[in-house]
Amino acid sequence: MSAGSDTLVIAIDGPAGTGKSTVSRGLANELGARYLDTGAMYRLVTLAVLRAGVDVGDPAAVAAVATPITVGDDPDDVRAYLADEDVSAEIRGDAVTKAVSAVSAVPEVRERLVELQRQLANRPGAVVVEGRDIGTVVLPDADLKIFLTASAEIRAQRRNDQNISGGLGDDYEGVLADVRRRDHLDSNRATSPLRAAEDAVVVDTGEMTQAEVIAHLRGLAQRCKEAVR
Ligand code: DC
Repeated sequence: MSAGSDTLVIAIDGPAGTGKSTVSRGLANELGARYLDTGAMYRLVTLAVLRAGVDVGDPAAVAAVATPITVGDDPDDVRAYLADEDVSAEIRGDAVTKAVSAVSAVPEVRERLVELQRQLANRPGAVVVEGRDIGTVVLPDADLKIFLTASAEIRAQRRNDQNISGGLGDDYEGVLADVRRRDHLDSNRATSPLRAAEDAVVVDTGEMTQAEVIAHLRGLAQRCKEAVR
């Protein structure tokens, strides 16, 4: 358990398409907690690497790039900075999204970011930390560990619906193949593979609305808070 009666550390992991970001921010907001988006950190490093003109397939060169990154912790206004520049929108763009898997597989990058994530998470107060390896690697002593899941078909359906509303076209079968490919890569990579911690509460979000998931997690957090006190 984390130290201090006002400290509560909640780890939320799981693959993309489970509603993880919305749910994590919503939960942090309801608990009055800080919010840490570790995916944004990997995206920031990736942007720095791309701007440095470095080949993302060259791990030694990627590890050598200077990465002066800062992330905000307000769940209602999530901000990310490279040096002093607000790059919150740019890190969500196509170029970063395509390159981030390769960059996040570089062990030196992970070591550096895990260290930073631990420092930020262990400040006083409640915090919701969202990622892929938070309960297993970054914060194995978190007070509450949640692993969100949903079937590949449901996650593909959600992403395809987003693509359609974003004007990117309708290709359910293509999106499903991509979801399955990424699941396989994420679960089988050597460093920090995506998996639920043994003591994580696994929540299948497939048949739940995001509001229902947040309410469910809030109940778990409440019980946990009482147990920690
Ligand atoms: O959650 P996201 O899509 O913003 O994450 C971006 C990338 O970073 C994704 O490829 C997974 C990776 N990531 C990771 O390896 N470990 C984390 N704790 C968070 C994200």
